[in-house]
Amino acid sequence: MYLNANGLQLDPVAASIALEGQAMYVCVCHGISEKRLHQAIEEGVCSFEQLQSCTGVATCCGACEPCARQVLDETLDSRSRAPQAS
Ligand code: FES
Repeated sequence: MYLNANGLQLDPVAASIALEGQAMYVCVCHGISEKRLHQAIEEGVCSFEQLQSCTGVATCCGACEPCARQVLDETLDSRSRAPQAS
């Protein structure tokens, strides 16, 4: 068992599905939400290594890595498909 940022004892396997209200926690070890990952990507993060460095996601047990990579890939993909201002 692991303690998250709030001191709660949690199973890291459940990290990618932890919910609090409407916010989805991707990383329970560090209490990092999907919203925080989106914010980092909007601020310029464009690789998984940068996402780890900026937020700390997937730097403890690693159970959240697949979900964090998926959030990064989907967010970058949707951004590249967005119409560009001319
Ligand atoms: S859930 Fe353990 S490092 Fe993210």
